[in-house]
Amino acid sequence: MPIRDRPRTILITGATDGVGKQTAADLAQHPDNFVIIHGRTKENCEKTIDQIRREGARYDNIDYIAIDFTSLDSVATGANQLSSRYPSLNCVVCNAAVLQQRRHDTIDGYEHTFQVNFLAHFVLLNRLLPTLEQNSPGRIIVIGSTLHSWTSIEWTDLQAEQEYEKYLQFSRSKLMCHLMAFALHRRMALTGFKVTVNVMDLGREKRETNNNYKFRCASALSTSESVFSVGRSAGGLVQMIESPALDTLSGKYLDCHGKQMRSGSEATDERLQERLWSEAAKLARDHLIKS
Ligand SMILES: NC(=O)c1ccc[n+]([C@@H]2O[C@H](COP(=O)([O-])OP(=O)(O)OC[C@H]3O[C@@H](n4cnc5c(N)ncnc54)[C@H](OP(=O)(O)O)[C@@H]3O)[C@@H](O)[C@H]2O)c1
Repeated sequence: MPIRDRPRTILITGATDGVGKQTAADLAQHPDNFVIIHGRTKENCEKTIDQIRREGARYDNIDYIAIDFTSLDSVATGANQLSSRYPSLNCVVCNAAVLQQRRHDTIDGYEHTFQVNFLAHFVLLNRLLPTLEQNSPGRIIVIGSTLHSWTSIEWTDLQAEQEYEKYLQFSRSKLMCHLMAFALHRRMALTGFKVTVNVMDLGREKRETNNNYKFRCASALSTSESVFSVGRSAGGLVQMIESPALDTLSGKYLDCHGKQMRSGSEATDERLQERLWSEAAKLARDHLIKS
């Protein structure tokens, strides 16, 4: 089936590993979906696609794009390529994230976690918005974390130069993703929700109940009591991507069963959402589409 005839053309960032990869594999099982795997390098993307095909993908409905989020030039160029290669793009899942042991700067001079988890997605989404709007109803799903409510933004030290602690910076980056999603949701309200924007929490589960899933992941964020289940999270994410409910539901924080959750109080503060949006627009000004 030609890509334009498929109901969904879905980009998943960070789909060469973990929940992004499993979600891509699950989505590719359905001929209605065209799945674009995003990864940092061409090699990782090709390896992922080979593996998904070997494990039984039946339809010719997967492709990839390599974009290194530590370079905003790469993000801007990649976004342009996505819009021209996939004019039917109507769903973006912002899933790529890192947790860095030590602080270091990207080629653009921003702190690595801040840029990969938040700023790169800010640039990517802003550049893809016209394509998503053309393919209305479009949807954006931003992968959040309950850790977003653990912290607040340190406005005088956005690049964590004065203090760097890996969990703190990760939590802040997830709070920023939350703020970005809600700011974008408000902008989309002005278009009559041509594109819906929601934040999704992939959740955790108690270790002992973790036996039924295809993949498990004891990541840096796992504790002795809880573990991140890739299989369950991907299952929930696939439902969110395919559910007709998200054609109209927007501005919500959802768990992996689609149930609404309460966002942290900073995340729902409109002044903070707008403040972050304008800070990000300043930092990324050379990489946004000029209006
Ligand atoms: N793991 C957990 O315990 C947990 C819990 C709750 C929520 N989450 C959230 O769920 C999402 C997926 O987590 P996960 O554990 O499945 O992720 P993961 O397995 O660590 O995969 C991360 C993905 O991000 C990509 N990535 C890393 N650096 C990049 C860069 N510079 N440019 C472009 N892509 C880059 C990786 O590509 P490469 O393979 O090429 O490096 C990979 O595809 C994240 O948003 C995470 O915060 C995770």
